[in-house]
Amino acid sequence: MHIDKSYQEIFVANKKWVEKKNNENPDFFSHLATEQNPDYLYIGCSDSRVHANEIMGLEPGQVFVHRNIANMVVNTDLNALSVINYGVEYLNVKYIIVCGHYNCGGIKAAMQPRDMGILNPWLRNVRDVYRLHEKELDAIENPNDRYNKLVEINVYEQCLNVIKTAEVQKSYLEKGYPRVAGWVYNLNEGVLIDLKIDFEKELNRIRKIYDLTKGK
Ligand code: CO
Repeated sequence: MHIDKSYQEIFVANKKWVEKKNNENPDFFSHLATEQNPDYLYIGCSDSRVHANEIMGLEPGQVFVHRNIANMVVNTDLNALSVINYGVEYLNVKYIIVCGHYNCGGIKAAMQPRDMGILNPWLRNVRDVYRLHEKELDAIENPNDRYNKLVEINVYEQCLNVIKTAEVQKSYLEKGYPRVAGWVYNLNEGVLIDLKIDFEKELNRIRKIYDLTKGK
């Protein structure tokens, strides 16, 4: 069976990779094993075509990664929130990046009003983003343009969800980092697009309702 062959090939490829890395730098693994000191926390989609290190040109040890369907930062998701907490409080990351991508199956599914079984609660979060920006999105006539716009708007909303966390607000107030950035990866060209979200402006804007820097 074809899949068995490629499964076994993974371990062959791994051996080759270890040899290559050791040839380039004999201290590569011993150095990495002692600590991780990444400047970036990347929150992206689970999509197999979007690989954080690869598209950012970063080596192992340089980016802390969390991935899920449609790169969501959900308020009750202990997994994503634990990653943010650890990234900010223990790894002292300087940037938190939410990276969406065009041709995202999760976003596309959320745009179809139909029962997706166990995926419903997760997709609800994307559908809520759609509802929040319904006017702007429905004004776009071309369905593909509307879909791409939701990819971008969803990244923006997830950046806000990161900014709404106490860890990020308190760390930024005390140390001046992390900053939060929103990106979209264009699968067709391999190009990363910075949505240029004004972090300080957004932080100030949400303060009236979401300021968590006081108390506790
Ligand atoms: Co996706």
